[in-house]
Amino acid sequence: MSELKNDRYLRALLKQPVDATPVWMMRQAGRYLPEYRALRAEAGDFMSLCKNAELACEVTLQPLRRFPLDAAILFSDILTIPDAMGLGLHFETGEGPRFERPIMDMRDVVNLPIPDPEQELGYVMNAVRTIRRELKGEVPLIGFSGSPWTLATYMVEGGSSKTFGKIKKMAFAEPEILHMLLDKLADSVILYLNAQIKAGAQSVMIFDTWGGILTPRDYREFSLGYMDKIVAGLIREYDGRKVPVTLFTKNGGMWLEAMAATGCDALGLDWTIDIADAKARVGDKVALQGNMDPAMLHASPERIRQEVQKILDGFGQGSGHVFNLGHGITPDVDPENAGAFINSVHELSRLYHL
Ligand code: CP3
Repeated sequence: MSELKNDRYLRALLKQPVDATPVWMMRQAGRYLPEYRALRAEAGDFMSLCKNAELACEVTLQPLRRFPLDAAILFSDILTIPDAMGLGLHFETGEGPRFERPIMDMRDVVNLPIPDPEQELGYVMNAVRTIRRELKGEVPLIGFSGSPWTLATYMVEGGSSKTFGKIKKMAFAEPEILHMLLDKLADSVILYLNAQIKAGAQSVMIFDTWGGILTPRDYREFSLGYMDKIVAGLIREYDGRKVPVTLFTKNGGMWLEAMAATGCDALGLDWTIDIADAKARVGDKVALQGNMDPAMLHASPERIRQEVQKILDGFGQGSGHVFNLGHGITPDVDPENAGAFINSVHELSRLYHL
């Protein structure tokens, strides 16, 4: 087993005692950091950063040089899988991701290959190996993937969407096509995350950004069912250590019990649920990650500290909490405020671990 200097994040996910509540931020490497914008300008575009292991490693480490974060997250994107399936991903400035060849019909799904993680996605595994080497055991490395449903929304819509009209039409009018797509994605995600674990990811997180746009029944059928399959297919222990799995459905606060029943180790919470309520409902089964509104990072350091205090108080005494934002940090945040957030968590949380 390789030694870790700071294993608070892994310990909290497994509800083992910690000295302080660990903290990291979704999208902690990114455009709010001037050093990221500089490197990104040099590389040309976002995917060039992702596809170069040295650059992806450098960007992953940038926030850790500024802040005492308790975990690093692989710098990559959830859309690497559909890109490797041949859909032709590109990022239009200001518009987000676009696919040249979106999924339209059964033939497109039948023809979709399941990518080999060490071939088409070998650049991601190289980034994981490079980052693990450069982290030198300081903090654990988080690997990740999108959920099948969330990936399918981008693949069928052809990019970001506000109404999700195309994917919902497929779900309701041609559900057999969507189920075949989701099943192929679940198999691809299992291979991809297990390869990340073997390459060095010490915990994995599944981002279900769009599960919360579904009815409770459709959420179970089109999103949770496939995350359940993934959790059952993942390597749960590697290199002598448990590999915790975190599920995050944005706007999924209504469904925490069903999510916990997948057998995952932790649930990510957005800010629309009170962490005390979440703990009362599922705290005996899973650890919780979250859940400050990312927009709070626009307030003063004093106000941020008060909010951190309220969330720590909501979770209460003991381990099982990984502090985070309820969604990604936005490009317009002042890095000073991110620093105030992280320091507040470490300073104020010690009292909850006596
Ligand atoms: O958290 C991290 O620091 C790790 C890296 C990471 C990125 N994307 C980098 C990124 C992670 C974990 C993601 C996940 C991701 N990507 C999700 C799920 C999480 C969430 O935010 O809900 C989704 C839905 C995507 C798809 C995606 N990628 C979109 C919609 C965009 C454009 C968003 C925008 O703000 O323009 C991206 C691009 C992207 N992924 C950037 C980064 C740093 C911005 C790239 C740039 O312009 O430099």
